[in-house]
Amino acid sequence: MPDVFNIYSSYYDLLYKDKDYEQEVDYILDLINRYQDHTTNIIEFGSGTGKHASILASKGFDVVGIEPSEEMIKIANAKSKSNLSFVQSSIESYNGLKHFDVAISLFHVMSYLTTNEDLKKAFANVNNSLKTGGIFIFDIWYSPAVLTQLPEKRTKSIENEVIKVLRHATPEIHWNSNVIDVNYHIEVLDKMTNTSTYFDEIHKMRHFSIPEIKLLADVSGFKVVANHEFLTAKQPGADTWGVCFVLQKI
Ligand SMILES: C[S@@+](CC[C@H](N)C(=O)[O-])C[C@H]1O[C@@H](n2cnc3c(N)ncnc32)[C@H](O)[C@@H]1O
Repeated sequence: MPDVFNIYSSYYDLLYKDKDYEQEVDYILDLINRYQDHTTNIIEFGSGTGKHASILASKGFDVVGIEPSEEMIKIANAKSKSNLSFVQSSIESYNGLKHFDVAISLFHVMSYLTTNEDLKKAFANVNNSLKTGGIFIFDIWYSPAVLTQLPEKRTKSIENEVIKVLRHATPEIHWNSNVIDVNYHIEVLDKMTNTSTYFDEIHKMRHFSIPEIKLLADVSGFKVVANHEFLTAKQPGADTWGVCFVLQKI
């Protein structure tokens, strides 16, 4: 597990402060209601700072978040309550004993698994964490869009009263492994002292085709019950960067 996420955690919520977690949870609940009869508990893999998990817990579900980054977990733990807890683990090494109605993994977490070996372990572990008939909802980077539109250099600038973060992203395409290295150069300016700290991070992201996910589902005891563009539910195409899958444990 790359320790880039430990540094990332200190400005993660600031970088994504405009991300509409409430809307995403409503969308996930819609999928859950459509594909699962009765849901009381949910396991979230790659739960980050615990935002989806904590909204789901506030709606009455028992939620456990699984997250490898110690620093992300620290932030998430501040949101813990009787029906919300967090466990430090990667997906590929997770071996919990409880069986859940629903597993989720959101904001391209599965794309951080770049090798076939880790993917096979991760899908098997998610399958083991579900009851028979339980569903797994996740989103990934979609190969047709990545390979036709190609990732570009981007800069994101965002600030609060305390810090200003400037993040430059330079992608490097590995054509034969379906992996993009997103090279981040980050400046964090402390507004009080007017001093800057610089970090370099590489996020290795895999993109997937629909048949690839179907094959992974087949070999790990799932069937694919839905796939469409994340949030809009449109049919995926060459302009669809994020595709959401719903798998059901057989
Ligand atoms: C883009 S963040 C998404 C976090 C959260 N799901 C959200 O929507 O805000 C990606 C997360 O995936 C986690 N992650 C990366 N590799 C992972 C792995 N192998 N197993 C589980 N989580 C992983 C990172 O630590 C990070 O918290």
